[in-house]
Parts: sequence; C-alpha cells; structure tokens
Amino acid sequence: MFKKFKNNEDKSSQVDTLDLHNIPKHIAIIMDGNGRWAKQRRMPRIKGHYQGMQTIKTITRAANDLNVKYLTLYAFSTENWSRPEEEVNYIMGLPVNFLNTFLPELIEKNVKVETIGFTEQLPEKTICAIEEAKRKTAHNTGLTLIFAINYGGRAEIISGMKALIHDLKSSDEMDIDSLDEATFQKYLMTANYPDPELLIRTSGEQRISNFLIWQLSYSEFIFNPKMWPDFDKNELVACIKIYQSRQRRFGGL
Ligand code: FPP
Repeated sequence: MFKKFKNNEDKSSQVDTLDLHNIPKHIAIIMDGNGRWAKQRRMPRIKGHYQGMQTIKTITRAANDLNVKYLTLYAFSTENWSRPEEEVNYIMGLPVNFLNTFLPELIEKNVKVETIGFTEQLPEKTICAIEEAKRKTAHNTGLTLIFAINYGGRAEIISGMKALIHDLKSSDEMDIDSLDEATFQKYLMTANYPDPELLIRTSGEQRISNFLIWQLSYSEFIFNPKMWPDFDKNELVACIKIYQSRQRRFGGL
C-alpha cells in the first residue's frame, strides 16, 4: 500500500468538518500573487516564485490526503513570455528544482505527473525534467498532478480544432453534422480528465485569464484572498467547504 502524506497541518485544519463523500474529483488552481507576496516583503519577484513552488508541494500533499483525483495548476501561460527575460528564465528553472527535490516523494506517494500546454516550446532543461517525472510516475494510480505550462485556453481550442478538421478531411467515417461536444472534447489537451468541479484563484483577482475556458463551463469559482505563497492546506479545506455549501444545477432547477 502507498502511504498517504502526513503533516502537522492536519491538527489545526477543518478537515473533520468536510463531507468526505463530496470532495471535488478535479480541482484547478490559478496560482496568483507570487510577485505581490515578494513585493510586500521588499524581495525580488523571483523569491515569490520560489516560495510559490514550495506551496505547490504543500498543496499537492494536501490534495492527495483529501483524495482529490486530479489537481491542475496554472504554472505558465502562453501570455507569460512577455515578462522580463530574467523572470521567465527563473520560472523555467523551477520545474527542475521542484522535481529534483520532490520527485522521490511523488513516486513514493503514487502521484502521477502530467502536463497540458505547448511544452515542446519550453527550454530543453525544463522539458527533460518534466519528461523524466512523467516517465517515472506513468504507472502511478493516485492523484494526477497536472501542470499547465505554456498553456492558453484559446490556443488549445484552435489547436484542437485544427486536428479535428484534419481528421474530418481524411476520414470517411466522420462528418461535420455529427460533431458534438463529446467529440470535440477529445481534441483538447484535457481529453483524459473530467472537467474541474472547482476552480480556485488566489490573490483576490477575479478573472480566469485564458485558463481552461472550455472545461470550466460549469465549475464553481472560488476567489481566495491569500497570495499563492501563503495558501495552505487550511485554505484549501476552507475552499472545499465553500464548494460543498454550493448547489450545482448545471442549468437545471
Ligand atoms: C503568478 O504570480 C505566478 C506565475 C505566473 C508563475 C507560477 C509558477 C510557479 C509557482 C512555478 C512553477 C513550478 C513548477 C513546478 C511547474 P504573479 O507573478 O502573476 O504574481 P503577481 O500577480 O502578484 O505579480
């Protein structure tokens, strides 16, 4: 049997008050506020990203403890390339640092690492670290930890549409009139995952910033005021509690 993560945060959290039968299967998170967290402490922005990487470990452990099945984290958007080169380079090194320090624990705890996004455009060192993590965790069956890296929802839809049109042109079995949402969904980078029931964005900003724009159609949105480096298991549990208090109607009554 694989061990569950155990940590001291359990004591003070509200885990006991959660309905364990209604834990979201898939939680998506926009990890925002690293820069502001650093600025508030008169530190360079990259310190915020470093601390943000540590929070990824904390939240991965917490999600695994809570039996969440999929955790998708928005690590780098297709728009983030416009940041200063030094900051982009630093962020691109973080997956290497993260996996150097955390991969053994991910393997031990049965976590599977996957990515969505145009990862082929990332620097070689970043691709290597991610590919190694994917390879070494490919057969794990616990939490699936999905990094959205060089990801953008609109670009994903265009790329899926191109592949679909290509298949339509070259197949005798497919026709335009029988296209439906389920078919299109298979062309998205998230084809293997259920849609997130819950989206969390930290730092108080209330936007989805081109993240999973198709997949979040019926998700519950929770905007948490903490900066990402300060987000922790207690905050995650509090977000799940709010989620559990909401009624999801999917357009019905
Ligand atoms: C948002 O904060 C954060 C990012 C754009 C980068 C987040 C990336 C990581 C934490 C590292 C990823 C690591 C792995 C393991 C894949 P911001 O800079 O937009 O904050 P601000 O809005 O306060 O300026």
